[in-house]
Amino acid sequence: MFIIISFFTQYYIYRKLREARVSNLSRNIFIAWGIFCALIFLASDALKYSDLISGRFFEIAFALSFTWVIITILGFFAFLVIDRFSNPKRFNQAKVFAAIILTLIGVFWCLSEAYLVQPRHVVIKTDKLPANLERVRITFLTDLHIGGVSTRWHFDRVMKIVNDSDPDIFATVGDILDGDMSFRNYELSEIRKASERARKKIGAFAVHGNHEYYLFDRKNDKRQDINKIISNDCGLDLLIDERREISDWLVIIGVDDKPSGWLRGLAHDDDAGKFVLLMKHRPGLLYDQDGKFDLQISGHTHGGQFFPLGYFKNREYDSVQGLSFENGSYVYVSNGAGFNAVPMRLFTPPEVTIIDLVRE
Ligand SMILES: [Fe+2]
Repeated sequence: MFIIISFFTQYYIYRKLREARVSNLSRNIFIAWGIFCALIFLASDALKYSDLISGRFFEIAFALSFTWVIITILGFFAFLVIDRFSNPKRFNQAKVFAAIILTLIGVFWCLSEAYLVQPRHVVIKTDKLPANLERVRITFLTDLHIGGVSTRWHFDRVMKIVNDSDPDIFATVGDILDGDMSFRNYELSEIRKASERARKKIGAFAVHGNHEYYLFDRKNDKRQDINKIISNDCGLDLLIDERREISDWLVIIGVDDKPSGWLRGLAHDDDAGKFVLLMKHRPGLLYDQDGKFDLQISGHTHGGQFFPLGYFKNREYDSVQGLSFENGSYVYVSNGAGFNAVPMRLFTPPEVTIIDLVRE
């Protein structure tokens, strides 16, 4: 899909460059670079699960080609806007210059949006809170992708929101770790501090996403022990297809991202009077989850990350972002706190989700 979109946008820009009589050399470089990025994208996508390429190569190749796809989409709209709302009708070199400036403004916008993480407050009413509790606060992170192209500055902003929210339950719902963790002791210890604070209240919990399974150790050329990193280094109670009876009113279930994401009998019939919190990285509802939980918290989609590309990529899910109510249960899909591959977002700002359960 990305390749088709990229082909279309580049062809449109190429036609405008030719109309403006931009030199043959410049146009050929533009097309050659586009073909190169498309080939890199196809090769890295085809080989990402094989041992033929390293994880590092995949990261760089995917980032390069995905960035180019985004730039060409922004360029397409910039050329289109300049073409439609300017005179004379024929495209000229001044218009090319204006379109390039407009594209760069778009790139700056997308880069800025990716780093401007915000708290997203949600209130859910329930009749399952005990009489002595007015409110239970769940603060959760997904898709932070530490170890990818994330920065310390962005990470600190995320953790400040987590800590300021003072959660009763702190949760990570997958794709928190991504890439090489051997240089990320600071980030792991900060997550651990947040976990320890929440453990003094109700607890700190985690489930794996797909990217935790991509983790590798570059230095030692072997897969990193993700379970140990999350449990020991981050201090989170890792749920791999497990349930925790937290109290007489609360059950937390964590469904692993592999292999199927089914509940597989984790929800019990006698949970009916209890609040069942389901942690599951991908938002998709499967038949065995119907009516067996009160709230599912998920991520994975990044809210689309780059409008409107994400809606093509995530069309398999009923809900791509925000709160929905399906078959008697709430499902909240976070935009995610970070970004994947490239630090760019469009109309899907990153978030730290703060859900307050309050008595109905
Ligand atoms: Fe994911």
